[in-house]
Amino acid sequence: MTTPQCPLHGQTHEQVRGPTEAQGTEAIVHAENAQLDFSRSMSYGDYLGLDAILSAQHPRSPNHNEMLFIVQHQTSELWMKLLLHELHAAMQHVAADDLPPAFKMLSRVSKIMEQLVHAWDVLATMTPPEYSAIRPYLDNSSGFQSHQYRCIEFSLGNKNAAMLRPHAHHPDRLAAVQASYQAPSMYDLTLQLMARQGLSLPASHLNRDWTQPYTASSEVKDAWLVVYRDPERHWALYQLGEKLADIEDAFRLWRFRHVTTVERVIGFKRGSGGTSGVGYLRKMLDVVLFPELWQLRTEL
Ligand code: HEM
Repeated sequence: MTTPQCPLHGQTHEQVRGPTEAQGTEAIVHAENAQLDFSRSMSYGDYLGLDAILSAQHPRSPNHNEMLFIVQHQTSELWMKLLLHELHAAMQHVAADDLPPAFKMLSRVSKIMEQLVHAWDVLATMTPPEYSAIRPYLDNSSGFQSHQYRCIEFSLGNKNAAMLRPHAHHPDRLAAVQASYQAPSMYDLTLQLMARQGLSLPASHLNRDWTQPYTASSEVKDAWLVVYRDPERHWALYQLGEKLADIEDAFRLWRFRHVTTVERVIGFKRGSGGTSGVGYLRKMLDVVLFPELWQLRTEL
């Protein structure tokens, strides 16, 4: 009997698959000369500190689904850590008039935010009875107390003194949140950059008490209109404006997916952090981080 030939390749199936499949993957690894002994050198797990990361999941309930809940929050916090790393570096570059690296970092911030948006798909598999089984074990803990999330909000300009309070008992977290609270936001730094580039900005928005929430200004909108009406002339600022719009766009999607997932899982019950729950989160949908960047579009 002849060995059948593959109609696509005109070879025997053994030839198409090659010797590797016949020998198994162990032979491949040996043939590749991969390093297999890490008794004297740093391995993947060593470099990444995986022992610490993978031993940080401590379900408090006997319920199977609590692992999803924990890992979802922990991975979100890791992405937030990277987001802050990029955002704060981008802010320093904007303050130093060094825009190309800032653009690169801000693009990454948007992509991280999109990653966090997609992550809701996994948590949305948690049903109300699954969550109800673990809810008593959460006590009063809530994402509301995420200090990294608050740093992101503050660095993007949504300042709110009340949100410092949940961190008062923890000096390191408080210091991080306070630093973002007291510093000019990404948008404040952008307006200062626009002024340095010759655009007319109101003094009230160039030097102010940075702990106060940002208030929209028609003069700031006019300055952005100058940029958006002649993009070729103000290309860098135009690009920066669009990078910020990308970030706010993705952030809005995150807030929306959060509130929708919360409604799906707990309906209109109060949150573990003590707010009205969906009612509170819906109010947060109205937050506008870079108001003039949205307003100007109506007038173009
Ligand atoms: C089934 C899962 C979840 C439920 C039921 C839920 C519910 C809630 C509720 C009700 C609030 C309002 C504050 C409160 O009273 O607790 C809140 C806030 C918050 N949650 Fe979640 N959440 C869930 C998953 C997540 C995840 C995975 C994250 C990712 C880190 C997250 C991050 C946050 C943040 C940052 C806030 C504060 C929002 C703000 O103040 O604008 N939540 N959550």
